[in-house]
Amino acid sequence: MQDVITTWHQAGERVALVPTMGNLHEGHLALVREAQQHADRVVASIFVNPTQFGEGEDFEKYPRTPDEDIAGLEAESCDVVFIPDTEQIYPFGVEQSVSLKASPDLAARLEGYNRPGHFDGVVSVVARLFAITRPDVAVFGEKDYQQLLVVRKLADDLGFGIDVIGKETIRDAAGLALSSRNAYLDPLELTLARQLNKVLSETGQNARQGDVIKAHEMDAAEQLMSAGLKVDYVAIRRADDLSVPEKFEGGLRILAAVRCGETRLIDNMPMPD
Ligand code: PAJ
Repeated sequence: MQDVITTWHQAGERVALVPTMGNLHEGHLALVREAQQHADRVVASIFVNPTQFGEGEDFEKYPRTPDEDIAGLEAESCDVVFIPDTEQIYPFGVEQSVSLKASPDLAARLEGYNRPGHFDGVVSVVARLFAITRPDVAVFGEKDYQQLLVVRKLADDLGFGIDVIGKETIRDAAGLALSSRNAYLDPLELTLARQLNKVLSETGQNARQGDVIKAHEMDAAEQLMSAGLKVDYVAIRRADDLSVPEKFEGGLRILAAVRCGETRLIDNMPMPD
């Protein structure tokens, strides 16, 4: 992998990295297409990273579909698919590996609060992928909005000199954000899951300048619960750093995590100013 990238860099080519955990769908492929706009060469990585899954989460059952993934990436003319094994990413073993701690203010809230250690695992693996592939740009989805901010801060803080680009969320015809975890949903749960994007988007439309934020958050959570979803959080935050506004203002984003049966789903979107 490193030899290939060195050859490209020596030829003056710009390299983009699209990190994934595989089981690729249109959302992932949209990242590859975005990456092609910013670089001459695109590397997609597939690695289900054990250090970002908590106890009792779905690491073991996370869908692994390398053949379909490779075919999908080939159809997009992705230059290289990098599928390391655990020993290549953590050569001293997961237990003895050097790990990074994500910037606390950004990482301790929302997803980080509900999944302790999750973002530490994400920055630990992304730093390794950055070090191996030394890309000029890396593309991440807004689907995992907090992850995008955490990774951008990682790149800036450690001086990787990598431009971290965000790509908007790709949704199905009914607005459900595409996710590998949607495959866990049975038909009834799928109907419930569709309430998530609907409630988030309606909350955005109903909010007016000066409204008390908490009231909108509680109202949205109430709607999700009465639809039959268990709510981990619904939060309206400043888009640039996820800090908490009191009153409705410009530049906000609404983010939520719910459980639909056994499946945990997240979504977020910008709120109209
Ligand atoms: P994974 O969940 O496979 O997602 C890989 C990338 O695809 C992430 O940047 C994610 O935000 C993006 N993505 C997923 N669904 C999307 C959608 N519907 N629209 C747009 N982008 C979407 O996120 C991870 O893997 C891992 O945490 C990783 C960064 C690879 C580190 O292990």
